[in-house]
Amino acid sequence: MNFSSPMGTAAVLQDMNISVGHHEFVSVLGPSGCGKSTLFNIIAGLIEPSEGKVTVDGLSDSGRIGQCGYMMQRDLLMPWKTVAANVALGRIVKGYPRSEALNAARKILDRYGLGEYADHYPNQLSGGMRQRAALARTFLAAEEILLLDEPFGALDNLTRLRMQSWLLDVWQDSEASILFITHDVDEAIRLSDRVYVLTERPATVAVTLEVGMERPRPYEIVLTPEFASYKTEALNHLHTGAGALFGSEQPDS
Ligand SMILES: Nc1ncnc2c1ncn2[C@@H]1O[C@H](COP(=O)(O)OP(=O)(O)OP(=O)(O)O)[C@@H](O)[C@H]1O
Ligand SMILES: [Mg+2]
Repeated sequence: MNFSSPMGTAAVLQDMNISVGHHEFVSVLGPSGCGKSTLFNIIAGLIEPSEGKVTVDGLSDSGRIGQCGYMMQRDLLMPWKTVAANVALGRIVKGYPRSEALNAARKILDRYGLGEYADHYPNQLSGGMRQRAALARTFLAAEEILLLDEPFGALDNLTRLRMQSWLLDVWQDSEASILFITHDVDEAIRLSDRVYVLTERPATVAVTLEVGMERPRPYEIVLTPEFASYKTEALNHLHTGAGALFGSEQPDS
């Protein structure tokens, strides 16, 4: 993928080949600015790649646009709408009758422990609750393929661990295939069946980790030797290339 501007052409993604199977949880881990959100924008059909294609069930067609639920990196709830109205939005946009969409929203909010907040406004919720509501909206918009771009990036560590457990429960209860972007190595390994570790821009896949650890995976799984070996491998690849974890400045020698 290249972005062109009057200043020139910037290559962002190169030789990128990733896949997600039915009901798989796949993470994309990579340094800031390498092209992760761009990759999701391409998969969701928001931008056209300069080369390459996206296929769903072997078919390369724009029909996937309705099949993908996309929670963007700074996905905000609309402050002037109630939580239920926010969650119902995806369905309303798809043409469902408003009352039916609102009923579905209330049902999913109940399931996600937010039932009593359905008629509140987003600013009356905690950060974790807001992210859960935004995820509920994404799930309700499309249940087959979910693209989640750093959904827990702004949360404190404890809330983040709880949200991971919650997301795993929600996912296991569904048929969804999830593609998940994160900067957090532990989060990627704990959640995923497979982790693609990307290089700096132009991003390509540095290593693919097939995470074979059994589920369910409690918080403490990060303390096991098996977890540590996946983490070491991911970190080794993030450290190679142009000093990916710490920016691109390298000593001259
Ligand atoms: N529409 C655009 N036009 C031109 N350049 C863009 C555009 N969108 C993104 N870029 C550039 O592409 C590169 C990758 O951006 P992207 O947002 O995909 O990175 P990212 O990996 O998601 O970063 P972060 O982890 O910080 O969210 C950046 O250098 C960015 O400036
Ligand atoms: Mg991004």
